Parts: sequence; C-alpha cells; structure tokens
Amino acid sequence: MNKWTKYKTSHEGVGTFVSVWLDEDNGLVKRTFDGDHCGEGVSKRTSKADILFKNEIYWLTHPELSESKFLPELIDIDEESRTIIQRYYGPNLLDYYPDKFPISNLSEQILEMYKFFHEVGVNKLNGALSNMSLNGDQVIAFDFKWARPAPKANAKEVKAFRKWLTKLDPDLVEELVKIKSPNLPRKKKYNGLVVMDRTAELYRSLQKKKT
Ligand SMILES: Nc1ncnc2c1ncn2[C@@H]1O[C@H](COP(=O)(O)OP(=O)(O)OP(=O)(O)O)[C@@H](O)[C@H]1O
Ligand SMILES: [Mg+2]
Repeated sequence: MNKWTKYKTSHEGVGTFVSVWLDEDNGLVKRTFDGDHCGEGVSKRTSKADILFKNEIYWLTHPELSESKFLPELIDIDEESRTIIQRYYGPNLLDYYPDKFPISNLSEQILEMYKFFHEVGVNKLNGALSNMSLNGDQVIAFDFKWARPAPKANAKEVKAFRKWLTKLDPDLVEELVKIKSPNLPRKKKYNGLVVMDRTAELYRSLQKKKT
C-alpha cells in the first residue's frame, strides 16, 4: 500500500505547477498535472496542463534520456489523471544551498549532465537547483514539462543557465553557455593595442592621400 503525503515546498517562487506527493517509505514521488501546485501563490497556466503533461511524457520516455543516469527511474504514467510516478531519492538541491551540498563536485556533474542533454538534443529550460536532486552521489534532473528540442530554444536555455545557476557558480555558467554556442566568440576584452594599431594605419593612409 502506498502512503502518499502531500509535499509542500519551503522555497519561494518554486512549485508553481504540479501537485507533488511523496511516499518516502517506498521511495516514490507522484506529480499530478491537475491545476494544483506545491508552492505558494496561484498555479499559473493551468489551461496548458495537458500540453505540458504530454511534453513531459515525451521527454521522460525518450530512449536516451529514460535510460540515462541523469533522470529518476520512471515508475508509472497515468494519462487519465495526468500523473507521473518516479523514484524519489531525496530532497531537491536547493534544500542544500548554499553550503550544505553532500557532494564536492556538483558543478562538474551539472556540466556533464548538460553536455549529455545537449547530445540528446534537449533544452530543459528550467535548470534550477529546485529541479535537481541526488541519486546517491549522482546529480539527477526532473521536471521536463518546459523542455524543447534543440537547437530551437538554445537562446532560452542560455538565459536559463544564467538565471538559475549564476548564484551557484558563475564559471559553471560560462562552461554551460559554451556548450550551446561553441562558435560564438567569447566576450572579447578591450584590446587597446589593436585599436591603436588600426588608428595609426588609418592615419598613415590619410596622410598618404594628402600627399
Ligand atoms: N524526483 C524528485 N525528487 C525530489 N524532489 C522532487 C522530485 N519531483 C518533484 N520534487 C519536488 O517537488 C517540487 C516541485 O516539482 P516540479 O518542479 O516538478 O513542479 P513545478 O510545480 O513545476 O515546480 P516549478 O514551478 O518550481 O517548476 C520540486 O521543487 C521538488 O522539491
Ligand atoms: Mg519545477
């Protein structure tokens, strides 16, 4: 028998869309797209629940993602009640922020995970710590309802990296941005010497014209 307890997040601005139930004895989390939510405030865009539920299922059943170590084990999907049951391993990573993370290589693991998502071709778009957890020592990600196929939403994914992960590790954010835009030049530092060179050249050619 499952003993589901309704989960309420303690974080502001989090838990806006699905109602979440935990069965900690059996290590399960149940998320229902039913117009309710597990955070403060009013659930947003409930009219989109069906589309978002289907989108989440699409990604959770994606062959490469579903087999990967970066997602919680998928236990059950009930289309009628729009419910997804996954393995629950423990709290989301925001609960450990800023200095209680039980692993020392969090940034490296997040980078490895997003390199994998990039190879698979998914832009998750909500890379907040509140959408990640740990399976043992392994970082995992959940909540794929906003995910889009790459490269469509690459720019949005970059924005999401900056928005959610800068407070954790700005260097990680730069590495993540590089995955999405490998051909874009990195922000160039002002190079005074080059500018002076160019000015001198221009000046010389103007002088020549005069003579
Ligand atoms: N697999 C999981 N492992 C750990 N916690 C989970 C899991 N799934 C959901 N939760 C908890 O429930 C919260 C809300 O879940 P989820 O992110 O799926 O819903 P949401 O309403 O879309 O949230 P948000 O609006 O913040 O994106 C998470 O922040 C997390 O605390
Ligand atoms: Mg979420």
